[in-house]
Amino acid sequence: MESFLIKGGVPLRGTVEISGSKNAALPIMAATLLTSEPCVIRRVPDLSDTRFMAQILASLGAEVKFENGTLNIHARKIGTYADYELVRKMRGSICIMGPLLGRLRQARVSLPGGCIIGARPINLHLKGFAALGAKIQIAGGYIDATAKKLIGTPMFLGGRAGSTVLGTANVMMAATLADGVTVIESAACEPEVVDLAKFLNALGAKISGAGSPTITITGVKNLHGAEHEVIPDRIETATFMIAAAATNGEVAITGAQPDHLRAVIDKLTEAQVSVQRRGAKLLVRRKGRLKSVDVTTLPHSGFPTDVQAQMMALLTLAPGISIITERIFEARFMHVSELARLGADIEIEGPSAIVKGGRPLSGAPVMASDLRASAALVIAGLAAKGTTQVNRIYHLDRGYERMDEKLRKLGARIQRIEEKVQERG
Ligand code: EPU
Repeated sequence: MESFLIKGGVPLRGTVEISGSKNAALPIMAATLLTSEPCVIRRVPDLSDTRFMAQILASLGAEVKFENGTLNIHARKIGTYADYELVRKMRGSICIMGPLLGRLRQARVSLPGGCIIGARPINLHLKGFAALGAKIQIAGGYIDATAKKLIGTPMFLGGRAGSTVLGTANVMMAATLADGVTVIESAACEPEVVDLAKFLNALGAKISGAGSPTITITGVKNLHGAEHEVIPDRIETATFMIAAAATNGEVAITGAQPDHLRAVIDKLTEAQVSVQRRGAKLLVRRKGRLKSVDVTTLPHSGFPTDVQAQMMALLTLAPGISIITERIFEARFMHVSELARLGADIEIEGPSAIVKGGRPLSGAPVMASDLRASAALVIAGLAAKGTTQVNRIYHLDRGYERMDEKLRKLGARIQRIEEKVQERG
């Protein structure tokens, strides 16, 4: 296993280019299963998650070529059964279910379990498929969905934490090939859902309202091939903004879409971080001393749960008390105990983390527990005095393209090393 060795205290300076969005690319890749014609997807980030999804598509029978950020996928003939082990390993792979059901009227995937960031149920995905007329059976660790016919219908997909991103994506994909009109109420409004709808429309689907809580899908008989460029990764963008602020540096970000990040930019501004548009670039630097702020994660256009951990790392440096409330994934606080190893003072109270910020951080060995927690530890390590070793960075490699290389270009002293695990009692 690999680790990052970070010598902290260097302000990041320079320009960084943002990659394509992981969470937009994954469902778009799955959507290529809806057509027997070839598709070309550009600006696909080269990550273990996208490579994994490519393997799943190949295991279903699609021809897949991935070169220089461009994916050529041709799902001429496909099967209904995706390899159990492959699907089980990545939760995002649940979004092959909608396309399989749409095209073949049959899908069989392994039941995804819980994960480190909290319960990850799929009841809303299944509710949507059932509303379209699918019979769902769960047995032996598998979910089987079959339908003689899929029939469009109005449905409500809101859950206990609001909308569901992949649930909306899954049902939208299945409904493209249903008979009649489907209306999804309480649909997820995330930019990744909008990007998927754009790709599906390029394939010949008839979808309107994506980006709002009501999405209307008029079923069509067939979909054809298309080309598409994936939107920039808003979470990677936010991560670099926060890293710039945490190290008191000055970073220009290119290839980003700031309109997808209004809530993050708003909170950073409140915390005394300046984010300015300069032509196609975003310039990020501190305005003065960091200020504590309260943050609550919400579905889009609220503050994203995928930036909560990184923002917490930043707020450990802001004098005063910041209250961070997690409303999407209840257990997404695994980074708290690791940030404490670097000297952060954080207490968890129910769904909130109370950050008493302003104490200097100092380097220590820490363990990454999930993708965004890893990013938070890297940010904290960059800001800390001394050396920080972030272990288990395979989590980070799932979702950040060449993060260490990009940080080195900004002047960070960060190295990828073979992990020397220090046992902890
Ligand atoms: N939920 C249900 N029932 C469902 C589905 C979801 O109750 O059937 C609940 C979840 O438990 C959670 C909330 O609804 O409380 C939102 O979950 P959502 O379904 O929106 O999450 P997801 O679609 O499985 C995607 C991203 C996550 C991101 C969330 C929230 C991908 C591949 N994953 O997951 O990304 O945190 O939306 O924005 O798109 C990450 O990139 O690090 C990551 C975890």
